[in-house]
Amino acid sequence: MKSLITQGVRILGTGSAVPDLVINNHQMSEIVETSDKWIINRTGIKERRVLTGVNKSVVDIAYFAAIRALQQVGMNPLEIDLIILATSSPNDLFGSASQLQAKIGAYKAVAFDLTAACSGFVIGLVTATQFIQNGSYQNILVVGADVLSKWTDWSDRNTCILFGDGAGAVIMQACSVEKNSILGFQLNTDGQKYDQLSLRYREHINSSQNFQFFQGAFQYITMNGKEVYKFAVSKVPANILQCLDSLNISSGDVDWLLLHQANERILNAVADRLSIESNKLLSNLSKYGNTSAASIPLALDEAIQEKKILKDDIIVISGFGAGLTWGTIVIQWKC
Ligand code: COA
Repeated sequence: MKSLITQGVRILGTGSAVPDLVINNHQMSEIVETSDKWIINRTGIKERRVLTGVNKSVVDIAYFAAIRALQQVGMNPLEIDLIILATSSPNDLFGSASQLQAKIGAYKAVAFDLTAACSGFVIGLVTATQFIQNGSYQNILVVGADVLSKWTDWSDRNTCILFGDGAGAVIMQACSVEKNSILGFQLNTDGQKYDQLSLRYREHINSSQNFQFFQGAFQYITMNGKEVYKFAVSKVPANILQCLDSLNISSGDVDWLLLHQANERILNAVADRLSIESNKLLSNLSKYGNTSAASIPLALDEAIQEKKILKDDIIVISGFGAGLTWGTIVIQWKC
């Protein structure tokens, strides 16, 4: 897809936050019938973070991630033009991004939520890129944050062992076209498979004397694990190759592969199919589990803090999950 590029985009800084409560696999085995060995063998996850506390929400962890990113680059929140909050676990169905805007004091920013589950952050980066490249905005805060612990069925061992809570943020800024660091992207959706992984709304009928009102509530996460696994290991490498081909970049040129942190076996299978060495795979899955929209910016922030990513490194970032939706964005690190 071609767009009119009037200015380049660079990622100026990153930040992340996780809740304090750690639940390890041994503690999980007190909640459902499972074991540390089973979870590590099948997923690579050792522990996850869970948000606790009365009325604590996705906004609270998104706030810390955003503030850390702002502090890292020394930016006044009033300089932000747009906030995109990628989340599938808002504390208000009308959106949580506006609460984040108020909480960090970014009063001049437009703010909206973006719901695309585990692909949300990649789609957020692509969306922000369009607003900057076409000259609409200069500074954009993109946050990926989820608290799926609130929507997990804690009696379902097929799903509850996988997820954790967290948030990650990046600040994107306009720059000259020559310094543009967003090289390209490739996004896909297959809505026919939406029911393989979902958090469904269930309706009941509320009858009054003259009318029937169809109302309901959201249920817990349901997942066909095997199908989601097959989808990820086939569609994600194909999508990455298509994106790299369109940019004339070979997988040998890739310095870092940053995949949505769903399952260690998925990460390794994707890297294998792309012939990318495992030491180029960024992974923090063992500490946090699958944090949905937060997983990519959380791992990116960690890699930046650990000074793994160097100037001009090429990073392939791919998100995948419910929708089913998957997408890749290729970045050349410029900071
Ligand atoms: N602890 C112990 N045993 C478990 C278990 C758990 N937490 N969950 C399932 N099992 C059991 C099953 O009941 C089954 O037992 P059975 O053989 O007696 O029937 C056995 O382990 C194998 O289950 P299965 O579902 O075939 O395991 P799997 O190898 O497919 O692994 C997942 C399950 C969920 C780890 C794997 O399918 C997966 O990672 N899928 C992708 C999920 C994902 O990443 N989703 C998010 C995408 S964004």
